[in-house]
Amino acid sequence: MTKEFEPKIVAFVCTYCTYAGADLAGTSRLKYAPNVRIVKLPCTGRISPMFILKALQKGADGVLISGCHPGDCHFTSGNLHARRRWTVFRSLLNFVGIPDERIWVSWISAAEGNKFAEIINEMTEKLKTLGPFEPYKTLIRDIESPAEI
Ligand code: FES
Repeated sequence: MTKEFEPKIVAFVCTYCTYAGADLAGTSRLKYAPNVRIVKLPCTGRISPMFILKALQKGADGVLISGCHPGDCHFTSGNLHARRRWTVFRSLLNFVGIPDERIWVSWISAAEGNKFAEIINEMTEKLKTLGPFEPYKTLIRDIESPAEI
């Protein structure tokens, strides 16, 4: 019997909105896929593109970036900086061999537990259809145990 592929999702979220929204989803007992691992940061403005690459390199199949809605950032404009950074980073994804459909960006407030649960479920289903993200894992395996020459 083959085991169904379960994607690993790493969610980089801001503590004030999306983390609180995820908490609300939990306390409201909403059901959502258990495939997500949350990394809480002070603000989306703190999320470096390197975090995304590192997560994929270490085994994630998809990444979610989420924080306060534009205009609601607790540090005034952190999410606006994140949005600009994402626009540039997205254009480089194909260059580094990452399909942009593996990386999702969404604004989720502290009152949107439902939205958080829906996005995690949608992401999980989408990543199941895409399958595991292998390129970086293969590269790391080749570096760690190179074939005999
Ligand atoms: Fe939430 Fe800046 S504090 S995005």
